[in-house]
Amino acid sequence: MPSQPASPEPFPPDFLFGAATAAFQVEGSTEADGRGESIWDRLCRRPGHIKGADDGAEACDHYRRWPEDIRLMRGMGLEAYRFSIAWPRVIPAGTGAVNAKGLDFYDRLVDGLLAAGIKPFATLYHWDLPQPLEDAGGWPSRVVPDAFTAYAEAVVRRLGDRVDRWMTLNEIPVFTSHGYGNGLHAPGKILARKEQNLAVHHALLAHGRAVEAVRRFAKPGAQVGLVNNPLIGVPALETEAHAEAARKAVVRFNGYMLEPLCHGAYAPWWLEEQGADAPEVAEGDLAAIAAPCDFMGLNIYSGVFVEPSASPAGFRELPFPKGYPKLEMNWLKPMPQVIYWGCRMMREVYGARDLYVTENGCACVDERVEVDGETRVMDSDRVQWLRDHFAAAKRAVDEGLPLKGFFVWSLLDNFEWQEGYSKRFGLLHVDYRTQRRTWKDSARWYKIVIQGRKIV
Ligand code: GCO
Repeated sequence: MPSQPASPEPFPPDFLFGAATAAFQVEGSTEADGRGESIWDRLCRRPGHIKGADDGAEACDHYRRWPEDIRLMRGMGLEAYRFSIAWPRVIPAGTGAVNAKGLDFYDRLVDGLLAAGIKPFATLYHWDLPQPLEDAGGWPSRVVPDAFTAYAEAVVRRLGDRVDRWMTLNEIPVFTSHGYGNGLHAPGKILARKEQNLAVHHALLAHGRAVEAVRRFAKPGAQVGLVNNPLIGVPALETEAHAEAARKAVVRFNGYMLEPLCHGAYAPWWLEEQGADAPEVAEGDLAAIAAPCDFMGLNIYSGVFVEPSASPAGFRELPFPKGYPKLEMNWLKPMPQVIYWGCRMMREVYGARDLYVTENGCACVDERVEVDGETRVMDSDRVQWLRDHFAAAKRAVDEGLPLKGFFVWSLLDNFEWQEGYSKRFGLLHVDYRTQRRTWKDSARWYKIVIQGRKIV
């Protein structure tokens, strides 16, 4: 449980209750309507890489079943839906011609959401780089941010008259380190530290270019921000000394990208550490990267406990005891107050304006059962998880932090990257044989929460 109780007051009227997905994880139809190949299509074909030899060819068939999915969202009372746009649908070769049919899909989706009274939150990049751009060097090369500019402009020009909440890139730390460091994620490469630093730099630059595209082409009042997954130091005890140790930890863990993003310069301590592996920075890069944003999106699932220490770092990370509880991923260690501390740290240390929890949720062992003639998934573990994390969000709101919404990951069970379909994060259960969707108890819980704007 969060260590401080939230007030019994309802969530404020401008707080949005949402759910999130990403294109490659739900859409399927990977060859429909002129879509090009992405690095994830390619990685799925690498023998032995993805659990169950799963791929994204069908996924949740959201590309065709989106009207049903919107009806389900509406039934749940969702106020906002975070989805991503697949670059290989829009510019199949990565550069060059725009594929009108690819954009048409998002056009229909956005219109469908608006007609259902659901606010679209569009992410421009959730890891599905067009394969030709990888072949040209991928994120370690400047060809990618250059190509991204044209892609972002094409999308914002088409949808920016209706979509007014834009997220640039999803989780730069993950797709750069897993894509080019440990090789777990696409493109599955293991490169040197220099290449990884370049990948981060170019991803930040792409973010900056997307901010510019939104400023130029979206309707007045449109807002834009990056979706980040900072590693949050959580004070092991809630004393001021521990909070100070946590602030130091947050800079130490995330400074390599949050310093340029929020302060317009790589930190001297980081540059010194990297030496010759520091990225080459062209004139104008840092100004583009640090372009002011309207909000910061936070994908926060867990964190790390810290305490003060007399070491030069000023903090000590506490190891997780062997028996610390976890859900169905090793990293899913319940620590609900990380939502509160994440918001507070991004505000206090990095001056974020508005904040959204753009992802939080958990994977559970979900089983469908028949109860009194009804098909149920009795996921009280997920309900408990969400209840605790929403309570921590409420605490942030109650203390005046500008947290404006919470997107549960995920609307549907879906393709969980190298875990394939073996891990289920959805509020809705998906039977991948029939594509039948079943409400889990957590979806029923969420509906009641949204209706009353209170945690039940
Ligand atoms: C991420 C991605 C999602 C994941 C989710 C569960 O955070 O890794 O944004 O695509 O599916 O987080 O791992």
